[in-house]
Amino acid sequence: MKRAIYPGSFDPVTNGHLDVVERARKLFDEVIVAVAHNDEKQPLFSLKERLNLLQQTVGKIDNVRIAQFDGLLVEFAVQQKANAVIRGLRAVSDFEFEFQMALMNRKLEGNVETIFLMPKEEYTYLSSRLVKEIARLGGDVSKFVPSPVASALGKKFKG
Ligand code: PNS
Repeated sequence: MKRAIYPGSFDPVTNGHLDVVERARKLFDEVIVAVAHNDEKQPLFSLKERLNLLQQTVGKIDNVRIAQFDGLLVEFAVQQKANAVIRGLRAVSDFEFEFQMALMNRKLEGNVETIFLMPKEEYTYLSSRLVKEIARLGGDVSKFVPSPVASALGKKFKG
């Protein structure tokens, strides 16, 4: 059984994340989309809301499971019997941080490989941070996120 973890803050999940999930699930028997607690980042959506939005968007895909984790990613990967971590790589600007994290994770746990997947070119400019900013300023985010996320953003900012 080849199992991979796709970790992230998913605050909120975007079409770029969905594209990466689709690519990953073709390579692995099971992909666990794992939401980090990440309190340091002060997310817009609570952990429960982020899990809920993922459930509505990727929750029904056959070989995709949604989970949450606290603590070290590699410990979670070992606990889940996953031997790969998937990360999306959009542009060179992502590379430095991702490279550092991948090598550090490998130092911590040599049996878990990081695999980078490039989302569709049209998503290279897309990020949860920008989507939140656009929504906060009243812009239309419907092209960038699945519809439950667009409504959730609307509710957050318009009440
Ligand atoms: O979507 P993000 O915010 O880029 O995801 C970052 C995430 C959650 C993958 C990263 O912060 C992480 O792995 N956190 C878990 C704690 C951990 O293992 N830290 C050591 C990394 S070398």
